[in-house]
Amino acid sequence: MNSFQEGISSQERPRQKLTIRNPKPTDAISVHNLIRASAFVDDNSPYLYLLVCSHFAKTSAIAERNGETVGVISGYIPPEQPDTLFVWQVAVDPMMRRQGLARTMLKSMLLGEACKNVRFIDTTVTADNSASRRLFTSFANKLDCPLNESVLFDRKEHFLNLHDSEHLLRIGPFSIAPLANEETNNPTKELETS
Ligand SMILES: CC(C)(COP(=O)(O)OP(=O)(O)OC[C@H]1O[C@@H](n2cnc3c(N)ncnc32)[C@H](O)[C@@H]1OP(=O)(O)O)[C@@H](O)C(=O)NCCC(=O)NCCS
Repeated sequence: MNSFQEGISSQERPRQKLTIRNPKPTDAISVHNLIRASAFVDDNSPYLYLLVCSHFAKTSAIAERNGETVGVISGYIPPEQPDTLFVWQVAVDPMMRRQGLARTMLKSMLLGEACKNVRFIDTTVTADNSASRRLFTSFANKLDCPLNESVLFDRKEHFLNLHDSEHLLRIGPFSIAPLANEETNNPTKELETS
């Protein structure tokens, strides 16, 4: 039995502060467990999540409650696009969805020092992932900037029919000023970011 299976659900635990922070290498296995439990996100090796939680920690975020990882967004700045945050995987514990957590993690990443030159977000979504599409469409609306869509990795050409096409959503150019000025929209009033 792995640590994810042994975990007590967030519902059974007393409510404690929700913290959003950059991940550390010691978070990699709980991040991996959250990814494994989520539909629409590809599972990868524990080693890959160790790289996310070390090399890409400053451009990634996790949400933690009661010592449990309840949300993650992995991202990086592509070497040849220093003005772009590429958002790779997003996952929120099913018990914590629709409360603004993914949006708040994204905002926290953009407000970090590592993203100070970022003016665009790139991410990819499959055609059928309405929750993910809604997250990024809504984020672009709040930033009051364009969102353009194109196929980045094609089912036939790139995935040899082993995976659905990944559509690139490019958000921007934007200024992060509106984000810096707004109050947190997370209804869990105890939210802390660090
Ligand atoms: C996609 C996902 C990360 C969204 O997380 P979340 O914390 O529930 O998202 P938020 O609460 O921050 O919502 C952001 C916006 O998306 C909307 N939204 C979120 N889930 C939605 C859904 N299932 N249907 C419609 N809209 C949805 C919210 O209403 C909100 O819009 P608003 O700002 O206009 O009110 C979460 O559903 C998830 O983990 N899904 C499984 C993994 C996945 O699909 N990851 C993306 C591919 S890598």
